[in-house]
Amino acid sequence: MIPREIIDEIVFRNDIETVIGSYVTLKRAGSNYQAPCPFHSERTPSFTVFPATKSFYCFGCGAGGDVITFVMRSENVDYVDALKLLADRAGISIPEDQSDQTGKGVSRKRLYELNLAAAKFFRECLFDPQIGAEAMEYLHGHRALDMATIKHFGLGYSPNNFWALTNKMHSLGFTDEELEAGFLCKRSQKSGKLFDLYRNRVIFPIIDTSGNIVAFGGRVMDNSDPKYLNSSDTPAFKKSRHLFALNYARKCCAERLILCEGYMDVIALHAAGFENAVATLGTAITSEQARIFAKYTQKVVICYDSDKAGQNAANKAMRLLGEVGIDVRVIKLNGAKDPDEYIKKFGADSFRRCLDESKTGFEFKLDKILSEHDMSMSDEKIKASAEICRMIAEVANNVERDIYIQHASGVLGVPVDSVRNDVSRLRARMINEQKKKQSKDALLSIKNIGDRVNADAAKYVAANDCEESLLSMMMIFDEYRHGVAVGEIDLKAEDFITAFGRKVFEKLCELELSPGGYSRALLGQHFALEEIGRLEKIEVERRRLTRNDREVFDSCIKSLRQQRLDKADIKGQDLLSMMRQNRVKKQADGQ
Ligand code: UTP
Ligand code: MN
Repeated sequence: MIPREIIDEIVFRNDIETVIGSYVTLKRAGSNYQAPCPFHSERTPSFTVFPATKSFYCFGCGAGGDVITFVMRSENVDYVDALKLLADRAGISIPEDQSDQTGKGVSRKRLYELNLAAAKFFRECLFDPQIGAEAMEYLHGHRALDMATIKHFGLGYSPNNFWALTNKMHSLGFTDEELEAGFLCKRSQKSGKLFDLYRNRVIFPIIDTSGNIVAFGGRVMDNSDPKYLNSSDTPAFKKSRHLFALNYARKCCAERLILCEGYMDVIALHAAGFENAVATLGTAITSEQARIFAKYTQKVVICYDSDKAGQNAANKAMRLLGEVGIDVRVIKLNGAKDPDEYIKKFGADSFRRCLDESKTGFEFKLDKILSEHDMSMSDEKIKASAEICRMIAEVANNVERDIYIQHASGVLGVPVDSVRNDVSRLRARMINEQKKKQSKDALLSIKNIGDRVNADAAKYVAANDCEESLLSMMMIFDEYRHGVAVGEIDLKAEDFITAFGRKVFEKLCELELSPGGYSRALLGQHFALEEIGRLEKIEVERRRLTRNDREVFDSCIKSLRQQRLDKADIKGQDLLSMMRQNRVKKQADGQ
């Protein structure tokens, strides 16, 4: 772990308003700052930064916490990595240690070493004239990759043998535990011995932006299943946060990034000079990946397979990338199933033209609707018009909407005013529905129904209120936290009714009694991001109300205990009434 003093120093040296201000434009609001929330889309800012408590909270989506939490959220990194980023920012060096120990007890660093050794082995096999002949013929001959590209991507081959890699890695001193943790080997149910997971496949190493090999993909060379085998998540790799070839693409992503579906598409594009191509790894794009895109570029051209699955996936990608503010374009490739095939058939120049003619999301969707309807039939035309109007009605920007209305009027051959009227009507209805939903959501959140952080809160509303008051006072005022932790104030974990309240209480006491004492900066180690947001909410709501008043604290304890008794009472009553009912039933049955 990173030493406690260093954590405090990192937080101290990174002003929360400066750090957050480098992500969003903050406007002063009294002693605080406000901005549109970077974690959900909104028009009126409900995201607030409190310099006094070095914290932030979004009243809209409930994201909240300190500067570490903010970086964890925005950069999609874990606690330790967030600290590292902040340390870099402030020029603080973190002493080398075992802080990388995560997951199954195998360190991230060790997994990098393991993967590097495995990648070397796979590459040697590919270039071995005997062992790798067929694989080389597949990549170089059949898939037409030149030697430079094969080397650039570090491609390899896993021999058709159950123990080739296992034995090699054992000879290099890697343990069974490490091989399993790295998802390179599996344990046989029968013999209990390890065996190679990748057999008779061409291997694609997956490399992160720091140049570490973090995982592998392996493709069969025939039509057997599964076509690709991919590493599962390991302590060194999270698929949903990774983009294949971003390690290269990041160097030329200023203008745009190209998003395609597969390893082979990316490799073919890079080989043809489009080194800004990346791919997700066998999964639909995640919102985490969308945010990574936003970090590197402003424009993304989606270049998915031309089949139906690819086109549907494009819709989702458009939405997720649009949500993070990226200018999204879509390419439709005619005459080829994917970019790899397109380049082979029509060449790089032709692909570049497609790139430059790529369509906006609107044009793409419009084309899709038009292609699905026979526009010479009036009933089909009416259906298509309705779909197009609905699509336009969803656009929030007035000018943008008007441009689409005119465009649609031209395409459909109907007067602009008709389209405009239809769109206005649909939009009014949509806004109305949204409003209804919002007030319903607000009601639900007041009642804590559907509360993922504290599921018990809805059941024990009054008790939860007492608990939150107690916990907020323990967070705000050192003397309560200390008094409770050392037993001067009589409040125990058993007094808490909700599981979340109890957990927070225990952690606060534990941290208070730890060698360095309590620090808010340590919460990120013990609580999920959503939970930290809730702690911030509990504090924000009470910061103004709560005075440092021992009587208030004591009366909350008293009231909490009363709630506990009432709760026991209810249980008792339930039991009684059940017994009564049973008796009545037995009597009715004539016993
Ligand atoms: P594709 O089937 O389009 O493969 O899957 P591809 O990349 O174009 O490969 P070739 O051209 O057929 O050789 C797209 C991506 O989906 C993932 C892989 O990441 C692949 O690159 N995938 C596909 C899997 O993870 N597993 C599979 O079994 C198939
Ligand atoms: Mn393909």
